[in-house]
Amino acid sequence: MEDKPGNVSIEQERFQLRRLEISDKKKGFIELLQQLTVCESVSDKDFEERYQELAKHGDEHVICVIEDRHGGKIVASGSVFIEKKFIRNCGKVGHIEDVVVDSSIRGMQLGKKIVGFLTDHACSMGCYKVILDCSLENKPFYEKCGYKQKEVQMVKYFI
Ligand SMILES: CC(C)(COP(=O)(O)OP(=O)(O)OC[C@H]1O[C@@H](n2cnc3c(N)ncnc32)[C@H](O)[C@@H]1OP(=O)(O)O)[C@@H](O)C(=O)NCCC(=O)NCCS
Repeated sequence: MEDKPGNVSIEQERFQLRRLEISDKKKGFIELLQQLTVCESVSDKDFEERYQELAKHGDEHVICVIEDRHGGKIVASGSVFIEKKFIRNCGKVGHIEDVVVDSSIRGMQLGKKIVGFLTDHACSMGCYKVILDCSLENKPFYEKCGYKQKEVQMVKYFI
């Protein structure tokens, strides 16, 4: 996509990467998350409450999106939150979650842009590392984003 110099600015104009805004619910943000995992429909009230709750965390919990200006839809998203620890001289760790790109537009480097933005954010917040969980299928994608496999994920579901 970015092989030809002219294409870069066209794509930059078309795809806007920014933080989540409250109006993004009307632009298909929840429908996009439904491509990631189970995500029931969310009422406007519940969305606003959760949005305001997250907004209180400021730079410590960031959800970013890419809007496709051709049609005004949200076509990619991801989030990062900053964990404050006592270890490593009261160090901080970034946790990347919920990375998704609309199925109609995958393979256009948008996933890489989302992960790059979230990674840079964790770095700028002073984190000594940034981590995420993914399926084996997505391992090559994250490797292309500069990540490497380390250890294993453990989980216990409550529902
Ligand atoms: C995984 C996902 C986010 C990738 O988004 P995308 O926009 O299609 O990926 P990109 O176009 O940015 O890909 C970047 C690079 O990774 C490669 N890549 C992407 N997915 C890959 C995969 N599953 N296997 C191998 N390589 C892959 C691309 O070919 C590209 O390589 P290049 O830089 O050499 O051209 C997207 O497929 C998706 O939303 N999947 C469903 C939800 C999901 O599983 N999310 C991850 C949760 S952990």
